[in-house]
Amino acid sequence: MSVDLDQQAINILQQNDRGGFTIPTARLYPYQWNWDSAFVALGFATFDTDRAWCELELLLEGQWKNGMIPHILFRQNDPDYFPGPSVWQTPTTEGGGGIMPSGGISQPPVLASIVRTLLQKTGDRKRTAQFIDPLMRWHRWFHECRTPNGLDTIATVHPWESGRDNCPDWEIGLSNMSIDPDIEPYERMDTLHSSALQRPSKEQYDKYLTIIKFGRDHGWDQKVLTQRGPFLVADPGLHFILLRADRDLLTIVKEFGRNDYVAEVEAWIAKGVSGTDFFWNAAIRSFCARDVRTGRFSDGFSSASALCFYADTGTDEQRAGTLDNIRRIQSKVQFMLPSWDPDHPMFEKQRYWCGPLWPQMNYIVSAGLAEQGEQELAEKIRRDLGTVIEQSGFFECFDPITGDGCLGTEFSWTAAIWLASVSPHHRAVAA
Ligand code: SER
Repeated sequence: MSVDLDQQAINILQQNDRGGFTIPTARLYPYQWNWDSAFVALGFATFDTDRAWCELELLLEGQWKNGMIPHILFRQNDPDYFPGPSVWQTPTTEGGGGIMPSGGISQPPVLASIVRTLLQKTGDRKRTAQFIDPLMRWHRWFHECRTPNGLDTIATVHPWESGRDNCPDWEIGLSNMSIDPDIEPYERMDTLHSSALQRPSKEQYDKYLTIIKFGRDHGWDQKVLTQRGPFLVADPGLHFILLRADRDLLTIVKEFGRNDYVAEVEAWIAKGVSGTDFFWNAAIRSFCARDVRTGRFSDGFSSASALCFYADTGTDEQRAGTLDNIRRIQSKVQFMLPSWDPDHPMFEKQRYWCGPLWPQMNYIVSAGLAEQGEQELAEKIRRDLGTVIEQSGFFECFDPITGDGCLGTEFSWTAAIWLASVSPHHRAVAA
């Protein structure tokens, strides 16, 4: 059975290959996405290490002058996707953007951690070395452009930057926002390629586009977007992923003797560790998203809340509270770990980030739990991912109650994580 699934997973990666980079799935997401590509490299690394490196190298091609690696690279225009390059209107190199049209925001920076994994797996120092300067510039961009004045942590300006698009976490920010009456009329494509019941609402899309309009109207000046944009929420997912990535980057720069970078990365890590407290919602003993302007907490446990182990941060009490929440949730669902708290009124088991379990997220949650000695929970999350894939196929995400697949099919990161971590034949070290 799993040998067939291995072959299916390899076929999916090859079918979604567009010439050195991989799209997440045909029609619904027809471009190169940032964190998708990074996870995809782990899958390629199980059967073609050259192709794995190539995936990441092509991602670097989209880096902006200011260091940002955008969330989508529009190498060509594809009418199947909205909002495409004509909506984002990002500057090209002369204007401070990248060499190609792209999204005007970033995505969770898992790249450094995955480069480190590829280095461990392939031993390829030459290919690793070329990532050091671009990774430094990207992480510096997060720490400088996404750290609002007076805060010890980064915050995000758009729910899409978190990668957890319509998670109920963002209501604390979206509910304060009004829809810009001047956004152009638009036609959504996502609801043509997948069920509208599993996708974000019209009101959420209006707000996503309001933020894009603000960015566009301000020439995608990232500091202006952070200081004055319509949305400013600190996300535990981005925070923990960046802290982990800073730690992995530190290991790489030390291994390559780049002493010129060590103090800077160590300062980022120290800031990340002390910034962790900002997310602690003592009322529900969870790390939660928080609106930076109002200080208001989100009030549910998300799969991002569980990433404190992956980042190796938080006090004993905070880690104990997190584990209690994970165990409570385990008693409510068949398959771990849902993206949103099943006890919360906004839980929807099949709607995008309001409940379904996500392969790439659970892969890093499980890796973090295993590293911090929580083997049983880590293994349960990893095994459940295998079961839903065996039961339903290589979907984008899965219903945590029934295991049914949701949204995109033949999905690249699901195939990649199957190969890298779930298949009995290809288990690799954690990202
Ligand atoms: N995930 C987003 C979408 O659904 C964009 O990053 O289109």
